[in-house]
Amino acid sequence: MSAPPEVPAVVERAFEVGRRAGYVSFCRNETGRLLAALAATRSGTMAEFGTGCGVGTAWLRSGSRPDTVILTAELDEKLAVAAQEIFTDDPQVEVLAADWSTLRNKGPFSLLFLDPSSPEDASVDSVVDLVESGGIVVLDDFTPCEQWPPLTLGRVDTLRETWLTDERFTAVEVMVAPDASVLIATKN
Ligand SMILES: C[S@@+](CC[C@H](N)C(=O)[O-])C[C@H]1O[C@@H](n2cnc3c(N)ncnc32)[C@H](O)[C@@H]1O
Repeated sequence: MSAPPEVPAVVERAFEVGRRAGYVSFCRNETGRLLAALAATRSGTMAEFGTGCGVGTAWLRSGSRPDTVILTAELDEKLAVAAQEIFTDDPQVEVLAADWSTLRNKGPFSLLFLDPSSPEDASVDSVVDLVESGGIVVLDDFTPCEQWPPLTLGRVDTLRETWLTDERFTAVEVMVAPDASVLIATKN
């Protein structure tokens, strides 16, 4: 897909932090550009469950408007401290070294970015009350599937199936690359 090779300076800083931490589990640039574009439509408070080394946070920040805040929580303290370094002088981003459940009483959020590696925490029931009406949930890291119901490793992907059919959200799976897709769900 067509995109300039350069990434925003804040994302470059996050890559550098990740390189030093030896951490490679972060969203792809295609997803990051989507996050930035969505963040640019948001007001209020956005949140991310699982900061990693701050790459997704940095993409969100690169698109965010001046009057918004991004809260992100990372369980691994070393990673959280590394990510905090990226945003030291940035009042719009708070990186918490904590379980993401800490963010549950800080919503409702205008955008919530999740990694579905923990399907229970990423379920519709688990997050519906954390998002404001009109708010967007972005779930990263799916493999595109043209079948219905969607399959992952030969099994029905019930997490994806539920997000795409739950009446509390209007949702779509978006391919960001031939081998990668994300779910975007807007709360009705
Ligand atoms: C795939 S990485 C996140 C990548 C990041 N969102 C990005 O786009 O750059 C998932 C992260 O979630 C963190 N994590 C897992 N369980 C968690 C929990 N209960 N609370 C907070 N962070 C958690 C892991 O330590 C890991 O760093």
